[in-house]
Amino acid sequence: MTTTFELTKLLRENIQKLVPYSSARDEFKGEASILLDANENAYGSPLERNFNRYPDPLQHQLKLKLSGIKGVPARNMFLGNGSDEAIDILYRACCRPGIDNVILVPPTYGMYEVSANINDVAIKKVNLTADFQLDLNGIAEAIDANTRMIFLCSPNNPTGNSLHRADVETVLANFNGLVVIDEAYINYSRQKTFIQELTEYGNLVVLQTLSKAWGLAGLRLGMAFASEEIIEIFNKIKPPYNINLATQELVLKALDNIDTVNAWIKETVAERDGLAEKLYALPYVLHVYPSDANFILVKTDEPRKLYEYLVAKSIIVRDRSKVELCAGCLRITVGTPDENKELISALEKFS
Ligand SMILES: Cc1ncc(COP(=O)(O)O)c(C=O)c1O
Repeated sequence: MTTTFELTKLLRENIQKLVPYSSARDEFKGEASILLDANENAYGSPLERNFNRYPDPLQHQLKLKLSGIKGVPARNMFLGNGSDEAIDILYRACCRPGIDNVILVPPTYGMYEVSANINDVAIKKVNLTADFQLDLNGIAEAIDANTRMIFLCSPNNPTGNSLHRADVETVLANFNGLVVIDEAYINYSRQKTFIQELTEYGNLVVLQTLSKAWGLAGLRLGMAFASEEIIEIFNKIKPPYNINLATQELVLKALDNIDTVNAWIKETVAERDGLAEKLYALPYVLHVYPSDANFILVKTDEPRKLYEYLVAKSIIVRDRSKVELCAGCLRITVGTPDENKELISALEKFS
């Protein structure tokens, strides 16, 4: 079976009929000397610089710059208040509460499930295989007439590995709903991004974020890449000014510093691989999972004891030992070389 993807069949009726909010800045776009259209405070802001004007609702300048970096036209791009906003909008666009369902492939990023629960959307879980790859037969069996989306995360959080590209392509080619590929950690990966495949697959949505490799988690900027018709839906649903002016301006500046970011990525990957070797040498470490991201999943026999030991030393890692297929596991983010040294030195003293 190959996909016969029709977005209109997937959208909730209220979203198809929705007349979006038209903001003052949607209606007037040119230069003007007196702006009395948006009930702003004309005096300014009680700060060194002014933020009294509403920002560009569609972030044209920012998208243009991102388009140059990503090689994707601005019209195929949605910017959200973190990728979490994009995830939530997808649920609200496609899933009828109490009727539709989505497929999640645990262990994976927790927000897909939380967002489903917020939106009262049923979840069908098809666990990854023992080597954290897709169970294609399981996914095929789980799909029913009300399955609207499948969330895949590659490189996957918390396991760190990338999904096999051929498997992801199989899902894309055989599912009539949206396939959302979350590439939050793609900058650290040996795998190629899927953003160049948008013309190939009408049902593809790729999520990326500036919160990881770009070091801008505090500014909250997530990106969704998809067909123009899907991006139109995102824009219809989003709050009018979802990306604030400070974020738009600071991100524009940050995007000039891609060389710094690339150097960090190289160093993080080298640190990650060094850290993995040192972790593997620890007597109580049972397994170090191969990582394509900026963190490493480690299996030990006493995860909680180790976690608390590290907390007492003021080092915080993530206890993932209660997550499906992750019994015994801690997830450790790669830090600076000094932080990684301190971590290893603490771990070498643990007994
Ligand atoms: C896989 C994955 N997607 C998305 C996010 C969140 O991204 P953002 O900061 O853009 O909301 C995270 C954060 O940890 C993540 O691990």
